[in-house]
Amino acid sequence: MSAFVRRNGVLHAESVSLLDLARRFGTPCWVYSRLALESALDEFQRELAGFDALVCYAVKANANLAVLDVFARRGAGFDIVSGGELQRVLAAGADPRRIVFSGVGKTAAEMELALATGILCFNVESAPEVDRLDAVAGRLGKIAPISLRVNPDVDPKTHPYISTGLKQNKFGVAYDDALALYRHAASLPHLEVSGIDCHIGSQLLDPAPFAEALDKILALVDQLASEGITLRHIDLGGGLGIRYRDEDVPTVQAYLQPLLRKLEGRRLRVLLEPGRRLVGNAGLLLTRVEYLKPGEVKSFAIVDAAMNDLARPALYGSWHDIVPVVAGPGEVIPWEVVGPVCESGDFLGHGRELALAAGDLLAVMSAGAYAMAMSSNYNSRPRAAEIMVDGAQAHLVRRRETAEELYALERRLP
Ligand code: LLP
Repeated sequence: MSAFVRRNGVLHAESVSLLDLARRFGTPCWVYSRLALESALDEFQRELAGFDALVCYAVKANANLAVLDVFARRGAGFDIVSGGELQRVLAAGADPRRIVFSGVGKTAAEMELALATGILCFNVESAPEVDRLDAVAGRLGKIAPISLRVNPDVDPKTHPYISTGLKQNKFGVAYDDALALYRHAASLPHLEVSGIDCHIGSQLLDPAPFAEALDKILALVDQLASEGITLRHIDLGGGLGIRYRDEDVPTVQAYLQPLLRKLEGRRLRVLLEPGRRLVGNAGLLLTRVEYLKPGEVKSFAIVDAAMNDLARPALYGSWHDIVPVVAGPGEVIPWEVVGPVCESGDFLGHGRELALAAGDLLAVMSAGAYAMAMSSNYNSRPRAAEIMVDGAQAHLVRRRETAEELYALERRLP
């Protein structure tokens, strides 16, 4: 469902006009809809009703405390990949027993923090990580619950930068090595083998690779059981795609039903780690046209948001819809929608058919996931404010950074 709708020609977030938001909070700013976040999570939880299951939101997609809070209140868990994300989810009120810790490079300090917190599971990605975690847990007098993230070597048919489950990717334990590593982990005194995990990539539009990966994982589960290593849970990762443009996107039901069918009759708790699908279409980036530079070859609309705010177009060539908050009266022509950053790669959209005037407000859609989360301060640009709309209310959930804050940690030479 979209919470961003046009009323009397003006784009709204739930009941709040984006014209009002721009006036109150300035541009550029991120606008999230609480309703859209909740509906996205509900869709998963509805399908999982009756199953022993836990949705662990992948925090990396959008780590704002208010977003985490919305999900925590509805019983979600969290998938984290750093000590920073752990501190964040705890600050947002997360239940430690609903946190799983993924990532290929966990430091000893991060492991200590997670062990002291008492998280649900470490998703371990390599043999040396198994040994390090056992040693750290031993030092603290704890037992670490683990899953191995197994790389099933299936092709998710998505952008190469966000494919993670192929042999050539750095993620997880190679499928053929998994059994031996499980045996080793089960023999260590400070680890408790609790589950199995896989994540094959992001923005998947075809549900088939998920099923293919699950078949391979279940074969391992059975093999382990025959050796007396009984797993309690299976973590299917994240990866379900969203519609940015006109993609055919599977429903959560079409994605989950075949997987849940394969799990029927097994005593395995199901964990999921969706990120993009929960937040991607629940956010937009509101920006204002600063200057128009019509030209013979190309016409540029220079807006006040840039690649430092939304890096996805520059980084992956991603397409985000760009729509006027109020449709202008002028002539529709193709515009290069670009930011003020000094790079030719600083664009939000190429050749967008729009009727524009300087001062117009534009909404860059589907900007709830991997958007603010991947922003930077390049060109000493303060990060934009984040606003969460809830019905007729708008809450400032992260204020705009100031220029002073950008160099506050720096010192001139003595
Ligand atoms: N679990 C693990 C272990 C992951 O690495 C990821 C994402 C997720 C879950 C969540 O995946 P999702 O449901 O959001 O697809 N920056 C890229 C996407 C990178 C995804 C990284 N891992 C982009 O903007 O498209």
